[in-house]
Amino acid sequence: MSIALTRLDPFVTDREALVNFMTSNEFPFHVLSRLTREAVEKAIADGKYRDEDNDSFWVDHAELGRIGFLRLEDLTEPVPIFDLRLDGAFRGRGLAAMTLRAAADYVFSTMPEVRRFEGQTREDNVPMRKTFLREGWVKEAHYREGWPVEGAEPLAAVAYAIIRRDWETGQTTTFVWEDLVK
Ligand SMILES: CC(C)(COP(=O)(O)OP(=O)(O)OC[C@H]1O[C@@H](n2cnc3c(N)ncnc32)[C@H](O)[C@@H]1OP(=O)(O)O)[C@@H](O)C(=O)NCCC(=O)NCCS
Repeated sequence: MSIALTRLDPFVTDREALVNFMTSNEFPFHVLSRLTREAVEKAIADGKYRDEDNDSFWVDHAELGRIGFLRLEDLTEPVPIFDLRLDGAFRGRGLAAMTLRAAADYVFSTMPEVRRFEGQTREDNVPMRKTFLREGWVKEAHYREGWPVEGAEPLAAVAYAIIRRDWETGQTTTFVWEDLVK
């Protein structure tokens, strides 16, 4: 695997690099597409990058170096979720797929009680949605008007998940979406 997840220290060692990464990139599909230094520093102080529920990692590529950031969230819940942000310079090269694989490998191999790993994105985030599909994640929900957009109508939030069984076998288990008829 050419991707390594390097656990970061948001409080001291990696604090400035984290602030730089978050404030120098644009995240067009997030609720807040531009982050200020104040917002990131507050998030650090509030434990959003590391506390009992959250843990954060640099995404390191064997040849390309540091290409992005991954946060695991809801770690005290039975089902963790994630936030993945590639550096602008490394988007559009298909690198999210191997990063998502590394994230699932980490979750399922270090958290034996976890059976499901989930992610959500905005309906128009096609690169992220394609990445989920490429990695065998299954769409499980389409929350209409579930994603607030500043200055515009809300869009849908689309939820995907991978289950441990599928991660172990490499086979995607599907289900019948409309399993009841009127
Ligand atoms: C979303 C993100 C992680 C995707 O990673 P990426 O590696 O840059 O994704 P790519 O642009 O290479 O696209 C992935 C796939 O979507 C396809 N794709 C991208 N844009 C597309 C479009 N408009 N229409 C059709 N397919 C598209 C690509 O061709 C690629 O397909 P492939 O798997 O068959 O090669 C990255 O763009 C990013 O960090 N964005 C900002 C933060 C973010 O939105 N994170 C998601 C939060 S969960």
